[in-house]
Amino acid sequence: MSLKKVHDSQPKDFKFSGENLKKAEEILKRYPEKNKKSAVMPFLYLAQKQNNNWIPLAAMKYIANYLSMPYISVYEVATFYTMYNLAPVGNHFVQVCTTTPCLIRGADKIVKLCKEVISPNENEVSKNGNCSWMEVECLGACVSAPMIQINDDYYEDLDEKSTKEILSSLINNKPLKPGSYRGRKNTSPEKKLSINGENHA
Ligand code: FES
Repeated sequence: MSLKKVHDSQPKDFKFSGENLKKAEEILKRYPEKNKKSAVMPFLYLAQKQNNNWIPLAAMKYIANYLSMPYISVYEVATFYTMYNLAPVGNHFVQVCTTTPCLIRGADKIVKLCKEVISPNENEVSKNGNCSWMEVECLGACVSAPMIQINDDYYEDLDEKSTKEILSSLINNKPLKPGSYRGRKNTSPEKKLSINGENHA
């Protein structure tokens, strides 16, 4: 997304909703008063959840004020971790794991499909505003490679056909179910195992 678009989409103000204010107060109880700025990461996460999955500059200023810490320190944390989105993302936000295990099992084909179906560049919202995608490092589900994360859900054991169906369902705003697309339950084997003549699920 261009800098101008990011600039134009910045809201002037931000404050936590009533519900998030309560959550913020609960979070603060985990830290001694003198270390309350340690709450900056969960606060950023709350702000992201509240603001359609991205954190505007106004939210960083609000959090800095709330935790009595310099705005630049909040900005440093927000820009260091890739899990914080600093520009608008689609309602269906696709993160494609392209670390080695996923890559050798076809993550490059998933990236190609994202470019074709969603948008030619990562971090660019699709024409109908429904979706955006980005490449990320290992999401900890290597056993089900290749995989993608869509908002909070994992879609695993993918191939070109299943990925195409999933991405099309997002564009049409009717997301398919998360989970394994080879019919596995969690990380169990696909077929029953036979050990010493006995069947094991
Ligand atoms: S390498 Fe893709 S989930 Fe670990």
